[in-house]
Amino acid sequence: MNVYNDGKWGSYRYLPLGTCTSIAVWHAHINIMTRGDLSSFRWIEGNLDPQSLQLESGEVLSHIYYSSLNFKDVMTATARLPLELDRHLNLHYIGVEFSGRDQEGQRVMGIVNSGALATVVCVDKTFLWDVPDHWTLEDAATVPLVYATAYYALEMIGQMKEGDTVLIHSGTGGVGQAAINICLHAGCAVYTTVGTKEKRDFIKKQYPQLTDCNIGNSRDTSFEQLIMTETNGRGVDLVLNSLSEEKLQASIRCLAPRGRFLEIGKFDLIGNNTIGMEVFLKGVSFHGVMLDAVFVGSYEMKKTLHDVVAQGISAGVVQPLPRTVFPHSKVEQAFRYMTTGKHIGKVLVQIRQEEDNKVVVPVPRLMKAYPQYFCNPSYSYIIAGGLGGFGLELAGWLVLRGARKLVLSSRSGVKTGYQSFLMRIWRSYGATVIISLANITTKSGVRALLSEANRLAQVDAIFNLAMVLRDAVLENQTEADFVTSAGPKALATCHLDELSRQMCPHLRHFVVFSSLSCGRGYAGQTNYGMNNSVMERICEARVRDGLPGLAVQWGAVGDVGLLAEVQEKQQGIGGTLP
Ligand SMILES: NC(=O)c1ccc[n+]([C@@H]2O[C@H](COP(=O)([O-])OP(=O)(O)OC[C@H]3O[C@@H](n4cnc5c(N)ncnc54)[C@H](OP(=O)(O)O)[C@@H]3O)[C@@H](O)[C@H]2O)c1
Repeated sequence: MNVYNDGKWGSYRYLPLGTCTSIAVWHAHINIMTRGDLSSFRWIEGNLDPQSLQLESGEVLSHIYYSSLNFKDVMTATARLPLELDRHLNLHYIGVEFSGRDQEGQRVMGIVNSGALATVVCVDKTFLWDVPDHWTLEDAATVPLVYATAYYALEMIGQMKEGDTVLIHSGTGGVGQAAINICLHAGCAVYTTVGTKEKRDFIKKQYPQLTDCNIGNSRDTSFEQLIMTETNGRGVDLVLNSLSEEKLQASIRCLAPRGRFLEIGKFDLIGNNTIGMEVFLKGVSFHGVMLDAVFVGSYEMKKTLHDVVAQGISAGVVQPLPRTVFPHSKVEQAFRYMTTGKHIGKVLVQIRQEEDNKVVVPVPRLMKAYPQYFCNPSYSYIIAGGLGGFGLELAGWLVLRGARKLVLSSRSGVKTGYQSFLMRIWRSYGATVIISLANITTKSGVRALLSEANRLAQVDAIFNLAMVLRDAVLENQTEADFVTSAGPKALATCHLDELSRQMCPHLRHFVVFSSLSCGRGYAGQTNYGMNNSVMERICEARVRDGLPGLAVQWGAVGDVGLLAEVQEKQQGIGGTLP
């Protein structure tokens, strides 16, 4: 087709899309694009928007300066843990602890369920602690999770008391060191395990009261012999365990009568591995220590944990741990380092530089990240043809991206069980879904549709997916078929364009679903191709006018929609495959 534009003749051409360019954003977070492939970490745009930020009660926004890696993150990234997936965005959020500043500029450190490897994060106040003046923010990032885990396990679950004997596995790890600090301070006898000579030397240097008699090997079960010898066959009152399989079994055998086993490793729990019941004849107990449970637990439980850690900080029990710091551009290297198991203490990612002053309202740190599409829950989204195959998919996609006010236009409303099923699901997410029966092939119908959406909320995006097919080879086409096929595409788009210019002044997106039938031309689809072409030209004109306008030429879609319904088996269409 010849195209005359800007005084020149040309034609439409398909060109490869350029690679996605990153943009500077206020909220960026790390995402692993392919689980298991550590080279696929990317900074991507997050959904926190400073203009429309709505904090839940009890929540605080924190600007992150350091984020700390944990084994949970490694297990998520390497696909060894069930997916830590954000259902709303289909993203893998990573990072559970951080240090930084709140909006008043106070230095804070905290724990979140996920998403702390980021520039900003919303955090529940009960999981946020003030950073003591004599610590740097780098120090602070080594503290929250390991101490919260150790206190939760030892004090809240294990009921540790002065004089208890405690076996702490992997003593040079973050939780290991936190637990040793807590136990020594509480007047307990401590035994620990390490995997290398270097780590053994570290323990002896860091905790002079621990000698070789207190330190076993974490790579085999010889620690059992050590514990039994050193405790004269009694065993220990508490085991803080992170070892697996036969080492877990040996650790259980280390328990003294009425001892408490505190399992912080996840390997055997996820593997549903068994333990012999006989050990319980000693009156011992086995506890899965799930800090995640505190996140969804009662306020009292959270507050207790908060206060226990806060007291530990003010009493000087909580001490920052040794750490290795990577810049934010080296997240892959940080994870690789962590997976070698060679590190002592914590592995941190620095997001930004700490200022010299103790209180500084943080200037937003803009991070280069891949853009993501998010909806604003306060605005409305119109989908013409929203009850069709593709329309239902798009509506679900928008809801997952935050849309909570949808107007789906249709000629006849909900007809199938599947449509009502999806409505129920979206409503269960808190979305309001209105079905508009206004006739969008007329101007008055489009006016009614836009008014309905405006009554719901300011319109953020309009998508036109409506379609009626009247396919036939040209000799068999009639004028009436052309008119029918033009209605929901060419005419509706024309009215939507004209009226939205007046009625939707804040529109962010105007999208039409066109087809390869327009770009390539399919036999028997002259009217359909032409109507798609009209929609595309309307979008071009809108863009020339500085308005949003996007036409997507979809190829044949094999999973949902009209084609999937009419084709018994998938065939090529005009040289393209669904
Ligand atoms: N499927 C594919 O392979 C494919 C390929 C390329 C492009 N596309 C484009 O994608 C869009 C959706 O396709 P689809 O496969 O999902 O088709 P579909 O299942 O037939 O959905 C289109 C829907 O448009 C609605 N509609 C028709 N006239 C309307 C009107 N006057 N007002 C409101 N709604 C109206 C119909 O729903 P009601 O009966 O409820 O009115 C129909 O279900 C179309 O624009 C199509 O051109 C699809």
